Amino acid sequence: MKNLAVFISGSGSNLQSIIDKWKTEIVSYDIKLVFSNTSDAFGLTRAKNDQIPTKVLSHKNYTNREQYDRSIDQMMQDFQIEYIALAGFMRLLSPWFVEKWSGSLLNIHPSLLPAFPGLHTHQQALDYGVKFAGCSVFFVDKGIDTGRIISQAVVPVLSGDTEEILAGRVLKEEHKIFPQAIEDVASGKVSLN
Ligand code: GRF
Repeated sequence: MKNLAVFISGSGSNLQSIIDKWKTEIVSYDIKLVFSNTSDAFGLTRAKNDQIPTKVLSHKNYTNREQYDRSIDQMMQDFQIEYIALAGFMRLLSPWFVEKWSGSLLNIHPSLLPAFPGLHTHQQALDYGVKFAGCSVFFVDKGIDTGRIISQAVVPVLSGDTEEILAGRVLKEEHKIFPQAIEDVASGKVSLN
């Protein structure tokens, strides 16, 4: 069993899917901590509903990104965390942190990477006129959404789609592939090397 921390900044619907798999199936990960950089993230309530410990650390008290990340890292040591899943964590992590957690740090992005990294990904896809969109789970590296891809899911882009409609269609797939990718890494089926 691998100790997992999930990092969030908002709604935490992906967190919910990771919790649901953990609660209803035999899995290789144990959710030991939900961490947020903001105290009003709804995902914290989701965690509390399932008695999962939560921690909030605001970056506003830090002037230096790496110092903030070192505080997070200390928290991970305290909770004996082995893997981290970034589930809508809206903050860039320092190269120091990413290097230290290389191979144990997973993220999800709502596009078929390497297309449309970064922000406003659904609008980028619509502007481009692509006929298929999707989501990608990957091992985080020092770039923005550039890490080695673990899994992807594809959805069609339909005429009349807005950013919100497309995001909703993609999100449903995120909820399937992210928990499974975490399980595949925690069980040793998939590794960076
Ligand atoms: C998801 O679309 C995820 O891919 C992106 O941020 C969104 C988070 O949604 N990184 P939620 O907080 O999990 O509902």
